[in-house]
Formats: sequence, C-alpha cells, structure tokens
Amino acid sequence: MNPKLLIVDDDDEIRTQMKWALAKDYEISLAEDRASAVENFRSARPSVVLLDLGLPPHPGNPEEGLATLSELLALDRLVKIVIVSGQGEKAVALRAIGSGAYDFLSKPVETEELKILLKRCFHVTQLEKEYGEMQHLLGGNSFEGMLGNSPSMQPVFDSIRKVATTDAPVLILGESGTGKEMAARAIHQRGARKDGPFIAINCSAIPETLLESELFGHEKGAFTGAHVQRKGRIETSNGGTLFLDEIGEIPQPLQVKLLRFLQEQTIERVGGRQEIQINARVIAATNADLKKGMAAGTFREDLFYRLAVVQVVLPPLRDRENDILMLAKFFLQRFASEVSKPGLAFDQESLRVLNKHSWPGNVRELENCVRRAVIMADGKRVTPGDLELTPGVAANAVTLKEAREAVERQMIQQALRKHGGKIAPAAVELGLSRPTLYELMDKLQIAKE
Ligand SMILES: Nc1ncnc2c1ncn2[C@@H]1O[C@H](COP(=O)(O)OP(=O)(O)OP(=O)(O)O)[C@@H](O)[C@H]1O
Ligand SMILES: [Mg+2]
Repeated sequence: MNPKLLIVDDDDEIRTQMKWALAKDYEISLAEDRASAVENFRSARPSVVLLDLGLPPHPGNPEEGLATLSELLALDRLVKIVIVSGQGEKAVALRAIGSGAYDFLSKPVETEELKILLKRCFHVTQLEKEYGEMQHLLGGNSFEGMLGNSPSMQPVFDSIRKVATTDAPVLILGESGTGKEMAARAIHQRGARKDGPFIAINCSAIPETLLESELFGHEKGAFTGAHVQRKGRIETSNGGTLFLDEIGEIPQPLQVKLLRFLQEQTIERVGGRQEIQINARVIAATNADLKKGMAAGTFREDLFYRLAVVQVVLPPLRDRENDILMLAKFFLQRFASEVSKPGLAFDQESLRVLNKHSWPGNVRELENCVRRAVIMADGKRVTPGDLELTPGVAANAVTLKEAREAVERQMIQQALRKHGGKIAPAAVELGLSRPTLYELMDKLQIAKE
C-alpha cells in the first residue's frame, strides 16, 4: 500500500500532470476547491497535501488557499502541507509557512524536486508516528526507564518509590534478566544520593582472592603486587550507592567483613589499621535462593537480615503477560532506529510467537531476540523466522511422532498450569473438547492435579 497524498489545485491540467508523475509511488486523491479538499481529507486521511493557494471562488488571491490550510491543520495538526505557489508569491508562501505549512514550491514545479520533497515529508511523518506510538506504549509508565504495565510490576514500582527516599538496605530478588540492576539504579536515581556515585560490583565475576581488595581496597605493600595504595569499591561509593550484585556468591570470610561494614559503617583497607568512615546506601541482588544457602550454612543469616531490610522481588517475564508485546515493540522501535530501518514492525504471526514463548532469560532474552530480529529482517516486517524462537522442546525428538508428543505435552502442561489445573478452561484454550483433552493427558501420562 502506497502512502496517501492529496493534491489540491483548481487547474485541471496541473492536477492531471502531477497525478501522472506521482501515481507510481503514492495513492493519490484530487480536489479542486476548499470544500472538496476538506471532504477528501476527512475520508482519505492523507499524511501529505500539495496545496495551491489560488482557489475558487477567488483564484486571483491566496485567501481561499490559506483558509484551506488552516482548516486541514485543524483536522490534523501533524499533516504535512506543501504550498504550491505562483511566481512572485513568495511573501504569501512564507505567510503560509508561518501558519503551519511544511514547505513550499514555486510553479512551474520541477518533478524531481517535488519527489524529493514529498519523500522527506513522508519520512518525517513516519518518524513522528513512531515517536507517538512509543509515547503511547510508555503511556506514562516508564519508571526511570523501567517499563511495565502488568499488575505484577506495580508492587515493584511501589516499593522502589517508597524505599528510594530512605537509607535502608534493599535486597532485590529475581531470575536472571528480570531487571535487578535497573531496579537498583532506579532506587539510586530517585533517592537523595542521586548526585553521588552508583558503584556496582558483581561478586561472582571477581575471583575470590581479588574480591576482598576490590571491595575494601588495600594499603601499599599489603600483599605481593600491592605496589600502591588503592581504594576499594565500598570506599568509592561513599556519598552514593553500593550495588552488590550476585551477593549469593560472596565467600564466607568476606561475609563477616561485609556484615561489620553494614553494622558499623566503617571499613579497613586490606593491610591497613585505620578505620574509615563510609556513608553509602547498600543494595544487593541475587537470583540464587539465599534461604537455601542459609539452610546449607553457606550464607550467613545475620548478613541476610542486615541486607534484606526491604526486599523487592522482580517477577519473571512469563508472569508479566501484558508486558511481553509492549517491551518487544519498544525494543523494536529502539533498535530499528539505531540501524535506520524506519517503519519496521512485527507481523501478526511473530507477535503470536513472542507471546507464546516462555522467556527463560526474561527481559534480557527478549531484548537480544528483538535486536537480532531487527538486523535479520528484510523489508518492513519482522517474521517468526527472524526471531529464531522455534520451541526447544522437540529438539531431541527423532521421529515426527516424538516431536508431536513433546509439543503436545508442553502445550497441555502450560495450559493446565495457567488455569490452575482446571480442565475446562485449559481445553478451551487448546481448542479441544474436554474428552479429547482427557484422552491426550492419558496417552501422554500427564497427571490431573
Ligand atoms: N522493565 C524493564 N523495562 C525495560 N528494559 C528492561 C526492563 N527490565 C530489564 N530491562 C533490560 O533488560 C536487560 C537486563 O536487565 P538487568 O541487567 O537489570 O537484569 P538483571 O536482573 O540484573 O539480570 P542478570 O541477573 O542477568 O544480571 C537490560 O538491558 C535492561 O535494560
Ligand atoms: Mg544483573
């Protein structure tokens, strides 16, 4: 479908010529006076209009054309109206621009120039449309860059809002890729320390032997290789926020030292004697089960209670149903504009596939999936093939029968889980009768819970 263009001119010959020159690229409608222009505009909703100013009943002066201009802009303030003016009417054309016209051309109109100008008009319209859609998607729901309209995200935003104004330690829990670091930054950003540093340290990424000096710093000569004195991350976070990521991975001897810091707000550098006073807010995060760690004796209970004064739990993406497509569209717009593919969108089938996927890697997986799809997509539509989300369940199947059963089993279990084990709604969702669903469950040995 070509973009829509309305040509308004009282000269029959000019209308025909223009139409002839542009018909290949645009869906064109024609009007010869103000009334027909407005009527045409209302029904066809073109995003660009070519407007001659000398219209009947006063073809000799621009008033009727200017009136048409304001009337069209009143109907759609984003419409791009290009004035086509006669020789020597530059002053009038400028007046029209002052009243909201997008640009002007002088007669006789040069076809190539016209084509380039129209291309730019439609391009700008497209960008504005995408921007508008993006704003609509966000719908005031962007929270320090965190998006989420689903009910399960509202308690998260609530807690962040509340806890941000305090200094209490916060423990953020959630599967990998659910946005724990984003939440930590949001807390920092909304708090009194937002102009101070936000220092993140990933406790699992640093070898145990280095972690202590990384956190607490060291004095010159504290150990072989310590040629100079060095401040640790805790010290650099002074006046700001310290984010301890993957806190579950922190080795036991360091847990003791960390606890001391939390209790007394002082540290000693490795090899140092001097107590250094630190004023930092501490936020920790983990995707590990710390309760299990405590039961097994690998994570100190006293440290847990110090860190977990407030807990923020991020839901997995599969429990944020309303958010999957919203996030996918948001990422698509962002990456499409990064690689200059304006107007790229998901086709119907890929939207369905996105919604069905279980997203074990959560928002991070979705983000990467869309990033790749945007690069792979040919033309204006992202297809399921670009997403590369073929269900993994059937991957080990050898025969068609095995593959079919694996997919059937997965879909039935999913539907049952979603409906709390209730057969009737699960059958409706799967498009089966109840007896057929019972039969399949029997065959696949899926227990009724
Ligand atoms: N609510 C959200 N809105 C928009 N983007 C999000 C949201 N949550 C997460 N993201 C994006 O998803 C990616 C993963 O987020 P983040 O690093 O905060 O997750 P994480 O829980 O710390 O992950 P991991 O456990 O792997 O460290 C980031 O690129 C982030 O920008
Ligand atoms: Mg993280």
